[in-house]
Amino acid sequence: MIVGVLREVGPGETRVAATPATVGQLMKLGYDVVVEPGAGELSTFSDVAYADAGASIGPVAEADVVLGVNAPSAEQLGALKSGVTLISTLNARFDESLVQDLSQRPLTALSMDAVPRISRAQSLDVLSSMANIAGYRAVVEAAHEFGRFFTGQVTAAGKVPPARVLIVGAGVAGLSAIGTAGSMGAVVRATDPRPEVADQVASLGGEYLAIENPEAEVSATGYAKEMGDDYKAREVQLYTAQSREADIIITTALIPGRPAPRIITAEMVASMKPGSVIVDMAAANGGNVEGTVAGERVVTDNGVTILGYTDLPGRLPAQASQLYGQNLVNLLKLMTPGKDGQLVVDFDDVVIRSMTVVKDGECTWPPPPVQVSAAPAPSAAAAEVTAPVAKEPMSQGKRIGVVAAAAAVLFALIAAAPAALQGHLIVFALAIVVGFYVIGHVHHALHTPLMSVTNAISSIIIVGALLQVGVGKPIVTTLALAAILLASINIFGGFAVTRRMLAMFSRS
Ligand code: NAI
Repeated sequence: MIVGVLREVGPGETRVAATPATVGQLMKLGYDVVVEPGAGELSTFSDVAYADAGASIGPVAEADVVLGVNAPSAEQLGALKSGVTLISTLNARFDESLVQDLSQRPLTALSMDAVPRISRAQSLDVLSSMANIAGYRAVVEAAHEFGRFFTGQVTAAGKVPPARVLIVGAGVAGLSAIGTAGSMGAVVRATDPRPEVADQVASLGGEYLAIENPEAEVSATGYAKEMGDDYKAREVQLYTAQSREADIIITTALIPGRPAPRIITAEMVASMKPGSVIVDMAAANGGNVEGTVAGERVVTDNGVTILGYTDLPGRLPAQASQLYGQNLVNLLKLMTPGKDGQLVVDFDDVVIRSMTVVKDGECTWPPPPVQVSAAPAPSAAAAEVTAPVAKEPMSQGKRIGVVAAAAAVLFALIAAAPAALQGHLIVFALAIVVGFYVIGHVHHALHTPLMSVTNAISSIIIVGALLQVGVGKPIVTTLALAAILLASINIFGGFAVTRRMLAMFSRS
């Protein structure tokens, strides 16, 4: 099959869907590659560089698979051959008319911005790749506008304080901005309603500002949910105080499927020092800051610069094209199982299903929802099972009764046991009590690491069992063998599960 690379025609677009390096990777998958003349010009990739990598330069009219950054123009779409597979950022969630248009054409279309946020699809996730670049570039833009150093210095001419940077929202773009501003020497603080990001912020050298939040819970999807009025009131207090102190504010707050939450008000902007800079990364989506104009640089009456640039990844075109192109290569690897240059649109694969907008001229949008779980949400079936338990918790009296009965049985066993066994039974009883309280108070998310510790304890059991296995009494030998078997299952099974979990986070 032939893979065609479009020349982007959208205003201000500087990126391209393949670089000479990714052309080589596409060819290794068995494809021939054709690149439209001048496609990589604005990303510093010349036609000669593509040709040297093995691509031919020319129109994509005969291509079986067409790669783009944005949705092609009507003219470009009209020039594609029948049965083509188009892969680009189609923005299908918001662009209904484009979905309608594509559905009328004899083609298959996949939208790169519809990759579900699941571990397996991380290597194709263009939204994360672009947000990462945008977070970096937001700091560069802020530094360019800011009239001072980011890092504090003690010079012969005097002391320079470090810049204070506040990052609102610690998702992909926010974390990238935290790392970048921190590496430039600024004092970085960050906020986010998802408490689980606190460690990530700290690991990048930032300080997490928690907003006291009774609704706070670990997100099951990796995304924030809409916060209640109480949270919003506390949020206002925090940002009112922080705006007075911050030299630079970078806002990245996003709740999927909603307009950007308004976080920094005009009063907060008015309280900032002259020369301060705000980069509102959510400008295209309505803005997190009052006074932002999408795509523009605005200077307020009190000398605060608000940048509402919506093309931050395109301001690093070579980098953005390289990561975008690599995301596409990773997608084509998934779709070319035989590495034979034959594309397979496999609807049993949840990633491919989620991205497909049109298949063979038939509209398949919207796709069925995917459980994008950072901490898995309970399935409907599980919810059904657990719901009655939640409605009818065991009463306090009943619980005390059960515990007292279990304790009585244990005491009876201890009393009836031979003297040599009594000590062991007492340790066993205490282990049950301690285990119950320890495990019961460990968060669900930490149960897997806890299991590893249990494995270690199991391995101690193995040592004891190995010592007992040859004592000569059949009953002891049988019990020792059973102990060795069970402990081995726990050790090897536990490590196998842990290994699988770790593999989900490692890049292939
Ligand atoms: P993300 O979903 O990974 O992160 C958004 C974060 O905002 C989440 O951590 C969420 O918990 C947090 N958040 C939600 N409500 C909040 C609130 N009230 N206060 C503080 N934090 C809150 O999204 P990602 O990929 O990091 O993108 C961030 C923003 O950057 C989006 O609006 C996206 O459209 C924009 N973006 C802008 C670009 C540009 O050129 N200007 C380029 C790429 C992305």
